[in-house]
Amino acid sequence: MGIEPISTLLHENRKFPPAPAAASGFSRWHIASMDEYRQLHKKSLQDPEGFWASEAGCLSWFRRWDKVLDWNPPDAKWFLGAQLNACFNCVDRHVQSGHGDQIALIWEGEPVGPQTSHPSPGSAYAKEPEIRRLTYRDLQIETSKVANVLRRLGVKKGDVVTIYMPMVPELAIAILACARIGAAHSVIFGGFAPHAITERVTDANSRIIITADGGYRRGEAVALQKNVEEAIGQLANTGHIVNHILVLKRTGHEPPSQRFHSGHAPAAIGASPTKFHWWHEIEALVSDACPCEPMDSEDMLFLLYTSGSTGKPKGILHTTGGYLTYVNTTCRLAFNMIPDSGQIFWCSADIGWVTGHSYVLYGPLMNRVPTLMYEGAPNFPSFPGGKGDRFWDIIARHRVTQFYTAPTAIRTFMKWGEELPARHDLSSLRLLGTVGEPINPEAWIWYHEHIGRKQCPIVDTYWQTETAGHICTPLPGAIPTKPGSCTLPMLGIDAAVVNEQGEELPANKGGLFVIRKPWPGMLRGVYGNRERFISNYWSRVKDPASSTPYYFSADGARRDEDGYFWIQGRIDDVIKVSGHLLGTMEVESALVSHPMVAEAAVVGMPHDIKGNAICAFVTIKSKWFADNPGQQPGEELRKQLAAHVAKEVGALARPDQVRFAEGLPKTRSGKIMRRLLRDVAAGVEKITQDTTTLEDFSVVAKLRADEE
Ligand code: WTA
Repeated sequence: MGIEPISTLLHENRKFPPAPAAASGFSRWHIASMDEYRQLHKKSLQDPEGFWASEAGCLSWFRRWDKVLDWNPPDAKWFLGAQLNACFNCVDRHVQSGHGDQIALIWEGEPVGPQTSHPSPGSAYAKEPEIRRLTYRDLQIETSKVANVLRRLGVKKGDVVTIYMPMVPELAIAILACARIGAAHSVIFGGFAPHAITERVTDANSRIIITADGGYRRGEAVALQKNVEEAIGQLANTGHIVNHILVLKRTGHEPPSQRFHSGHAPAAIGASPTKFHWWHEIEALVSDACPCEPMDSEDMLFLLYTSGSTGKPKGILHTTGGYLTYVNTTCRLAFNMIPDSGQIFWCSADIGWVTGHSYVLYGPLMNRVPTLMYEGAPNFPSFPGGKGDRFWDIIARHRVTQFYTAPTAIRTFMKWGEELPARHDLSSLRLLGTVGEPINPEAWIWYHEHIGRKQCPIVDTYWQTETAGHICTPLPGAIPTKPGSCTLPMLGIDAAVVNEQGEELPANKGGLFVIRKPWPGMLRGVYGNRERFISNYWSRVKDPASSTPYYFSADGARRDEDGYFWIQGRIDDVIKVSGHLLGTMEVESALVSHPMVAEAAVVGMPHDIKGNAICAFVTIKSKWFADNPGQQPGEELRKQLAAHVAKEVGALARPDQVRFAEGLPKTRSGKIMRRLLRDVAAGVEKITQDTTTLEDFSVVAKLRADEE
């Protein structure tokens, strides 16, 4: 597989030095100079066990470890023999240390009145947004209640609880309640379609789903419970039984057919062994006290499914002690979190993605910095043309100090124009972050100037679901930034760019991004699939001297003459659409499940806002031509297919382009030539690949003609 350099980044050489803490509005930096970073990084690699033991000391443990690390590549165990609880570290210990009345979580709902568009720029909303502020004590009570509800429904330590909810405080409460009793959570992003629920529930052998009747998004009530019911219907064919569905009432919009009496299935899904319960009804029956279950450091904390290059999504497995230690440290250092200093942290990611797990929830709560959660879209209410300023309004009203979002969002804000942020007082901001994909330098500069008023350091954080937390990121007080580069490795991370032989490459040569030593946040496995764990992450590159496998992230990268990392993007068959990973296979499977599609190949194509958009090449069954004599497939079928993908996988996966082909270009062994299709999709003039292995040259000719 080749690595295509992002040529625009190669010429970027602007450098921004970190400002003194006072000038940035921080009382101090955790790491205040490049020298300090270099020294600490060196020390952390020389003595990883000493370094991580001291970091783990920031958490509360019920029992201390006997041994810091057991490394039996590719299997790592961290803090052996130790016991702790994730919910205790996020909630109870703050109550015990006298901070029970401090705000832990600030939530803002989306609805602001009946109108769907702004009355006029800058004017007040028709209705004040619903805002809830929960203290650590509130969270202790609420998580205890839900923990007791889960127990009552038969959930035991080690069980997997599936959570499919909107961005409401109860989502955070549900997750922490699982952790409280030692059940693993498996959160499914609320934008996914029923099929995603079926797949994940079966793979995780999960017997309980927590959901809501709906959630608000762009003024609409999104029917989550309905999707769960559809998934239950699909599960009936697989023999997997979900015993209980716990439903939070959020929108109250469910149609009469969906109603149920607690303990029964809704009429709409007929005779089903699955019992449905209203959250508020069953919660009223339990006590609000529930101690935190002591968990072994290596007990599973959660599963989070992520797209892979082949087949089904992978259940990435994280355990308790290592995950919490890594997230606590990275959150503190990258965002310079300091409790009791007036900070309010807002990460705009949905909790359904790893960014939300680590940096909406666990990281800020452990660091005792209030975390903000917003339910809805950045353009609700919207101005004409679909523009919105809700994010800037939220930052101004809540006095947000650190703001963390994705490049795709920043590019959208750029398109909407700087007049929108300019209307709001963003002076509370002290630090900005980005995550999810490489940020193009123009977007970086725009973010710096129009959101950060040229005063806020920007941390471009590179990491993955598998890594639990930041792997490369500027540390804001220490590392000068260059727009488009995630700069240098986190403390304790031995990152490198190597060739297929595992040899480190000289400056500015593109290669494979690897991590050569274990770190506490590393994934412990792919749930129920040892083979995928090994083949996906640990098979490609080895230490040339010792043959120890390196962790391979599936990203291409280069380092510049200052040792800065520039991530060039995925080199496997997954596509980052608006910062979210989608497997080409998932989209292709959805396409071929359509009765008129014979074969499909899906590739990413460059897109100004989304980073990448999906381009699907499909061949149509002869049945279609028989049904439509004398016609060629056209716009109507294109729309149908795009809508079909959105329904099967989720709106994120809707292809921007559907192109019909007579046949797909394949090698002699039958493998679809994706790189060639990528070039076609990107409109690259010349075929750059060696096409001599093509089975059917006329196919390429046909596709290229299609472009004209
Ligand atoms: C990409 C998201 C460049 C990368 C936290 C990685 C990035 C994948 C960056 C993981 C960044 C994430 N610069 N690329 N700052 N952050 N990526 O698992 O391709 O949803 O492999 O985790 O996102 O995506 P995931």
